[in-house]
Amino acid sequence: METELLRAEKENIDAVARRAADLLNAGKVVAIPTETVYGLAASIWQEEALREVYAVKGRPQDNPVIVHISDLDMLEQVAAEIPESARKLADRFWPGPLTMIFRKTEKVSDVITCGMDTVAVRYPSHPAAMAIIRQTGAPLAAPSANLSGRPSPTTAEHCVHDLWGKVPLIVDGGPCDVGVESTVLSLAGEVPVILRPGIVSLEDIRQVLPEAVVSEAVKRKVGENEKVESPGLKYRHYSPVCDVTLVRGDLDRFVRYLEGLEDREGVCAMCFEGEEERIPVPAFPYGKEGDGRSQAHNVFYILRELDDLGMKSVYVRAPEEDGRSMAVSNRLTRAAGFKVVEA
Ligand code: TXA
Ligand code: MG
Repeated sequence: METELLRAEKENIDAVARRAADLLNAGKVVAIPTETVYGLAASIWQEEALREVYAVKGRPQDNPVIVHISDLDMLEQVAAEIPESARKLADRFWPGPLTMIFRKTEKVSDVITCGMDTVAVRYPSHPAAMAIIRQTGAPLAAPSANLSGRPSPTTAEHCVHDLWGKVPLIVDGGPCDVGVESTVLSLAGEVPVILRPGIVSLEDIRQVLPEAVVSEAVKRKVGENEKVESPGLKYRHYSPVCDVTLVRGDLDRFVRYLEGLEDREGVCAMCFEGEEERIPVPAFPYGKEGDGRSQAHNVFYILRELDDLGMKSVYVRAPEEDGRSMAVSNRLTRAAGFKVVEA
């Protein structure tokens, strides 16, 4: 298949959105930018295209995808019930990187929800995403636009790498501002539960819903056949080709740990800004210590870069496990296949 790459800028955003919308309404899948990561989009009314999304990604058939909307009328098409708590969160965080789980309407295809009776919905804030959804006139189902198992794409180049020849159009909206996927919050149970941490943190959500908690499945390894609230938690995600180990401890201990490695061939490190000089192997800073926002912005980008450079293994100075860094810690722990050591 021929792939077209179109750069969406202020001046041509309507024309690019029109092109994307025409393809989406013709039952094609299109890679689109969002403020979190790039998404592989299909109109929720195009059953064949929805199947194509899973096929292109090589995504497991039991991992449901997120529906993207551009106004609250669209929410009513897919959510059977909109609790007061969701309206409050929407007021505060939409458009933006928060996904909420609702009971679904009959109209929502089982291909999107994998047979579950709930649907995940997000209202993205990226201007190109908004324009494309609006022009299509339909909610768009979109998982992250990586091949299944690879780190999520945060630039159009990443999409080109994974999807060239597999989709008719990649829309380039520049590097993603957030850099990790949205916070996924379930409102289906008695208390609001974060199923996937993101840049909208537990503390942010507690300002609106003080009773919110983080699912314990976020922190641990979930068994193959275990039933979980969010099927995505089961899979080994975000794995680069290079072998990842997460190292807990301060900078001194991290440096000593690296110095103690027997074989440093093809070995590199991910550290915080300003620490490079002290690291005895090639070092890639991925953000500021204690600043989850900067860490999130760079983490997937750097994991992909290490693969491009042919690195064999990377030792990562572990980020904080709370606040906004929880999202980064969660992605890195999964990229490491739960290989976490204390220095
Ligand atoms: O930021 C994002 O959320 C990006 C951009 C493209 O919007 N999308 C994204 O989609 O990360 P994906 O498919 O890679 O992740 C969707 C997550 C998965 O962990 C999935 O299991 C969960 O949302 N999910 C989807 N529908 C669900 C549902 N009904 N109940 C529970 N979890 C659900
Ligand atoms: Mg994904």
